[in-house]
Formats: sequence, structure tokens, C-alpha cells
Amino acid sequence: MKILVIGNGAREHALVWKIAQSRRVKEIYALPGNAGTAGIAQNIHISISDINSIVNKAVQLKTDLVVVGPEAPLAAGLVDRLEAAGIRVFGPSQKAAQLESSKVFARDLMNTKGIPCASGRCFATCAEARQYLENRTVPVVVKADGLAAGKGVVIATTTDEAVNALNSMMQDRLFGAAGDRVIIEECLMGKEVSLLAFSDGKTVVPMVPACDYKRVFDGDKGPNTGGMGSYSPPGFFGEEMIRQVLESVIKPTIAAMAEAGTPYKGVLYTGLILTTRGPMVLEFNARFGDPETQAILPRLKTDLVDIMLAVVNVSLDKIEIEWNSNPCVGVVMASGGYPGQYRTGFPITVSDKIDKDINIFYAGAKIGDGGRTVTDGGRVLTVTSTGRTMKDARDKVYSNIQYINFEGCHYRKDIAAREVS
Ligand code: AMP
Ligand code: GLY
Repeated sequence: MKILVIGNGAREHALVWKIAQSRRVKEIYALPGNAGTAGIAQNIHISISDINSIVNKAVQLKTDLVVVGPEAPLAAGLVDRLEAAGIRVFGPSQKAAQLESSKVFARDLMNTKGIPCASGRCFATCAEARQYLENRTVPVVVKADGLAAGKGVVIATTTDEAVNALNSMMQDRLFGAAGDRVIIEECLMGKEVSLLAFSDGKTVVPMVPACDYKRVFDGDKGPNTGGMGSYSPPGFFGEEMIRQVLESVIKPTIAAMAEAGTPYKGVLYTGLILTTRGPMVLEFNARFGDPETQAILPRLKTDLVDIMLAVVNVSLDKIEIEWNSNPCVGVVMASGGYPGQYRTGFPITVSDKIDKDINIFYAGAKIGDGGRTVTDGGRVLTVTSTGRTMKDARDKVYSNIQYINFEGCHYRKDIAAREVS
């Protein structure tokens, strides 16, 4: 098969790496890809926002399967467009992807089906939202309805802060139309976990759970980032919890989408918080998570392309999905200054001393002039390792990370630490 993977993050490098192991695959393309995918796939220099060119390219290449990594092309209807052009594609339709692209849509669905989530309300005008805020206790959470590149959620500790967030979303239109509607909801407390599941629209199969670390510094300090590390599995989220979330959240969500005539096919990512009232949904994403995927895919034993085809062909009930019991830890190395301002173009060096079974999944990295791999973004790469125990996996990542270098690099030292203390 000829497979085309859309996106350029470490998630997409991990997808390309896993897909390359499939017995079905002959050629892999990454669009636009990065320095990591360049080693396994052919990179195609087209922007992920250029839907017309992507569809034309997929047709021209006679692609057997397109795999969509990021949310923006899903929300823009890439899947629908490819299907209309007769191309098989792994990912939800534009309507189904609303579970991520509209938090109001997701909340309405959850409320209708009694799926546990934070209590709150949606607003289409700033005045009404402000009035509602006056009677709220803090902390309170303000969320933009649409896609905001991970910046659309503000946990306000004072009413002023909440009003400012509201104003910047609704009046200053910081996120454009994504802030036309906002949600104001209660702030929940608890440990967070991500449970991803494959869905063919009828059958759902959960993956192994994972945790990600959103704050930039150790101890969950500093500003939010696109994710600084992940591990799988969290010891506090066992089989019984997975079963409970499957029954109370994921299956009813997939059933509701089918009922509405917009079956959900692809990966459904459920972000959960484990409160004293039980697990509650923080968000849905319509795709693989980043950096969770970098810690999940190394544990997958089954051929990923077989699973993707089962999703596309609505035969997920016919396939057995197997996981390695060995835990996996992934640590993100970022550019100096990230998530604030940073410079790029620094050479990335990897010493020969690095253990051969360490995976480096590249993100903000490109092949520069003269063929050297240089930094090209904030989150530069994810270093992952599996191990017999979480401690083994963790020790292995941290003892090898010294062999990877670029000017100004920084990373968290406490990924998966809570699992081994
Ligand atoms: P999202 O952009 O929806 O992924 O939300 C980003 C992060 O905001 C989540 O991972 C949580 O840490 C936090 N968050 C979102 N909603 C709530 C909530 N109702 N209570 C507490 N934290 C929340
Ligand atoms: N890890 C969070 C996300 O992928 O959105």
C-alpha cells in the first residue's frame, strides 16, 4: 500500500514509524513531514491548510490510505473531501470532528446523554457571559468554543482574570470565530488522564491509557505548552476505570454520533479528570494526542494499518488489538525560551553512545543546508523508551537524553516520576 500521513509533529513521526512496520506498506509519504519522517518516508512540501492541493496530491499519487494527524484539517473537512475524491482515509468527517472543533457541540452532546463533565453554560454574547460570571465563585474556567491551538482554555483564579479572558476571546477576537461562543464552567480538581480509542462508528476499542504534562517546568509550574512529556500506563487508572469510562463516556458518545447520522470514525481522544465524583470529561479530541501517541504506539503489538483499515471498513469487531505490557516514557526536548519566544536553526546532535532501542520522534526539526538536522520549532523532539517497569523506561530515557543536544535545549526532569516514587 501507499500511505500518506498528514502533519509534521512528533505524533506524525511516531505514526509514520509505526506504519512503516506494517507488512502491508510499500511506500509512505509525510505531508509536510519533518526531519524525522524524512528518514522513513518521502516528505511532500504542501501546507496542511491547503486542502485542495492535498486532495490533488493524494489522487495523483493513487494513495491507498491517508492518515490525518492534526485537528485543523479535520475541522476543515479534509476527510470529506478525500472521500469524495475516492480516497480511503483514516479520521473523522468534518461533522464528526465537531466533538473537538466545537466545545459547545461536545458539551450539548454530553448534557443530552448524561455524560459526566463539569457543570457550566455556553454564551454567545459577552454581556450575558459577564453577568453570569458575577455570581460565580473562583477558580472558574473560561473556554473558547472553537480551535485555538491549545490556548483556548483559561483557568481564572479571580473574577477579573475571567472577565479579561472573556473580553479577549469575545471582544478582541483573539481566536477569531473560535471565540464567538464561550463556555464558562466549574473548575474540577483531580489527576488527569487521556484515554484514546479506535472507533469505526459502531465498535470502539480503547487503547492503553496515558498521561501528558502540559506545563513547561517540573512540578507542573510555568505556562502551558503543547505537551512536555507523557507516559503509559498510569498506575492510578487501571482496567476497572477504563471499563467505567468506556461504558459511561466513550460508548454513549459514539452511539450519539451514529444516531445523529454522523458516525465517528478514527481515534476519539477523551481527556479525563478523576474527581471525587468520579471520572469527568475535560475535552474530546478528534485525533491521536501529542505527546501521548509517542508513548502509546511503541506499546502497540498489532499492525496499525490493519487496525486503520478495520476502522475504515467498519470491521473493528473482527480484529484483536494487542499491547505490550512494558510501560513507555516520552520526554520532550524544547527550544530555549519555549513556550515563549525562541530561536531556531541550531544543529541537533545525537551521540553514537545512545542506546540503539531509544526512539527519537522529531517535531520542530528539519534537514538544513548541508544535510544537517536543525531545530525548526518550539517542541523539537520526543525521546521515548519502553522498559520492563516504569522505572526502567524512565531511567533509560533520562540516562540517554544527555546524548542528544542542541543549543538552549530544555526538558522536564519529572516525567513519570510520580509512578516510581
Ligand atoms: P483543553 O484545551 O480542553 O485540552 O483544556 C486544557 C487543560 O485545561 C486541560 O487539560 C485541563 O488541565 C484544564 N481544564 C479544562 N477544563 C477544566 C475544568 N473544567 N476544570 C479544571 N481544569 C480544566
Ligand atoms: N495532548 C493533548 C492533545 O493532543 O491535544
